[in-house]
Parts: sequence; structure tokens; C-alpha cells
Amino acid sequence: MGNLIKSVLESDHYYMVELFDLVCSAEKTNIWDGTFEKVMRDFFLFVIKHFSREEEFMLMIEYPDYNQHHSDHVKLTGILDIISIRMEKDGPAGFDQERLHMFYKLFNDHIKYGDQKLEDFCRDKNIV
Ligand SMILES: [Fe+2]
Ligand SMILES: [Fe+2]
Repeated sequence: MGNLIKSVLESDHYYMVELFDLVCSAEKTNIWDGTFEKVMRDFFLFVIKHFSREEEFMLMIEYPDYNQHHSDHVKLTGILDIISIRMEKDGPAGFDQERLHMFYKLFNDHIKYGDQKLEDFCRDKNIV
């Protein structure tokens, strides 16, 4: 069971990076033809789904750093929430590029350090 969930999480990570690349390129091109809003929405929904899957997995394996990891997820979804709400309310004028770039940085750091730490824990505990 642990193995199955872990491989789902791994493919989630690949898919999230792909979606994230789409967000980045949509941000640079044709930003207000509807593409950007759509890829942002797809990305946002997938991130929420992934975070909840990952949290269920951490609880299942009794991951000791769960609280810190969970609070990183809350912080990241909070940033995406603000971006989406403002864009929905004010359209192009509500787009907060600075906040999106702050998200890019925190999201990359999270994958690089937080998710990697979880990965290392699983390896050390032979949850492969
Ligand atoms: Fe995570
Ligand atoms: Fe993750």
C-alpha cells in the first residue's frame, strides 16, 4: 500500500512540474486569451489534490516532520488562493506577478528540500 501511494506521489511530482512549466510559459505568452487562467486553475487544483494525497501518506507512515511539511503546504496554497481570488475578481488588473514569482521560489524550495526530506526518510526506513 505504502509503495503504491509513494509511486503515485512520484508521478504527481512529475506532472506538477509539467503543469508548472505550462503556467510559466502561459505567463510569458498570450497571457490574457484565457490560456493563463485555465493553466493556473488546472495547476491549482492539482496542487491541492497532491498536497492532500501527500499528507495522507505522511500520516500513514507516521512521518515525524508532518507538522512542518503541512504548514509549508498551507502557506503555498494560501498564496495560490490569493492569486486566483484576485484574478477572478479583477481579471487582468488583478494579476499579481510579484506574488506568482514568490510562489515559484517557495514551491521550488519545497520540492527541493521538504519533499526531498520526506523522500530521504522513506529511503532510510525502507519505505520504497
Ligand atoms: Fe510536499
Ligand atoms: Fe509533494
